[in-house]
Amino acid sequence: MIDQQSLKVLYLSAEAVPFAKTGGLADVAGSLPKAIRCLGHDIRLAMPRYGRVEIEKFGLVRRLDALPVPMDERTETAGLLEGQIGAGPTETPVYFVDSPRYFDRQGIYMYPDDAERFIFFGRAALEACRALDWQPDVIHCNEWHTALVPNWLKTTYRDDPFFARTATIYTAHNLEYQGVFGYRVLEIAGLSDFGYIAHPDVAPDLNEVVDMMARGLLFADIINTVSESYAREILTPEFGHRLDPIVRDRRDRLFGILNGIDTELYDPATDPHIAVRFDVNSIEKRVANKAALQEAAGLPVRSDVPVISLVARLTDQKGLDLVGAIADALTRELGCQLVVMGTGESRYHDLLESLSANHPNQIKAFLTFERPLEQRIYAGSDIFLMPSRFEPCGINQMVAMRYGCVPVVHAVGGLADTVSNYQPETGQGNGFSFDHYDAMALYAALVRAVEMYRHAEIWRQLMRRCMLADFSWRSSAEKYVDLYFRALAVKRQAQRTLSDYALTRNE
Ligand code: GLC
Repeated sequence: MIDQQSLKVLYLSAEAVPFAKTGGLADVAGSLPKAIRCLGHDIRLAMPRYGRVEIEKFGLVRRLDALPVPMDERTETAGLLEGQIGAGPTETPVYFVDSPRYFDRQGIYMYPDDAERFIFFGRAALEACRALDWQPDVIHCNEWHTALVPNWLKTTYRDDPFFARTATIYTAHNLEYQGVFGYRVLEIAGLSDFGYIAHPDVAPDLNEVVDMMARGLLFADIINTVSESYAREILTPEFGHRLDPIVRDRRDRLFGILNGIDTELYDPATDPHIAVRFDVNSIEKRVANKAALQEAAGLPVRSDVPVISLVARLTDQKGLDLVGAIADALTRELGCQLVVMGTGESRYHDLLESLSANHPNQIKAFLTFERPLEQRIYAGSDIFLMPSRFEPCGINQMVAMRYGCVPVVHAVGGLADTVSNYQPETGQGNGFSFDHYDAMALYAALVRAVEMYRHAEIWRQLMRRCMLADFSWRSSAEKYVDLYFRALAVKRQAQRTLSDYALTRNE
């Protein structure tokens, strides 16, 4: 019966494009809800109102004042503002939890009270539903920031009629960021009566801290990650970041759904930021974008030299140690140009600065993050490099492919699910990949790519295949809706078990 019905879904995220972004989570939160709206469901997004989310700029309207939010022994108050993303059939309400105390700051994370800030956000979002008298069928939580919500629904709110039928789904975007805190956090969250969670198979020290992500994984009705391969990988110690015993316990409710990209925002046929627009039938126009990029990067403007690009958060995850190890050979032996954009750890800033100082005519590092430049890089480079150590989904490789930039990737997680290694014997594949995380394997993949680049017709086929791949959200949004119904079924089942239990006790 419920399968016919339009669902009410509250989507919780700490960041969302265009309001606040530090990583891929913001891209997902700013686009997946719109695709689910399109399928006819009443999904609404909620996030904190950071100082940078300007009321006038985004046309936010105040919906609630002084909403009481239980915190620790006291009650804090929150405001609620409303804005939207999308337009027409994709128009989706966005609720902003407002609090001068917790969120009126320039940054998004990295404050000493982050645990308390996001506990407040999650709790305020739940209380706001009640105040608005909007009863969600499903609450969709993302990352550690909102991972206590399933925990509350199974404890604090267990007998609350307002949430009696609300199911939860928890999406883990990256197991490296778990949100690990001390006992005090349980008091702030009002969960100290329930204590630590002891899991027999995790490292003993994990049972003496509050690992927010672990709680999301343990309490949500359904859990998922952002690609099918990563969903399999996190069952293993290598990729599970010490939570793999918990993930293995919950594998009956674990799914993988590949992220999509915003195909309207990232479209070389309409992109206002690139020198010359093009589509799959006018790929030859890319060469003008290549010249524009080489010029902007201060590199010799040469159409015959392959331009390799890398756009990433400059962290260990992204495989920059491998890039450092092969940069000399890449420029000297393969004669390539390399353009990098991103910000992150200072050791990688240093590495890239010294590489470009040593190879001023071949390597350019833009140590910044700017959308227009990012799009010019996708449109103007030939090869997109993404040698991540692990990659839950990865978004940039999909965007690069949409712009006809052929990927070279480490075959893990979402990279393995979106890039298939070119096979010269059969002509199949849409990029180049390597299996073992080491510099020689990456180098060999680049050698294969650069060789094919010299065969104009083959390369053209590769570019076409990349551009024609369907990375839109539609099919993934349908899969999420299936998971929402599955979460509701799990929840109903659990209720039945609970009421059976109550019956036996009453007898
Ligand atoms: C995280 C992951 C990345 C994924 C993104 C959105 O940033 O590291 O692989 O694409 O989340 O799900």
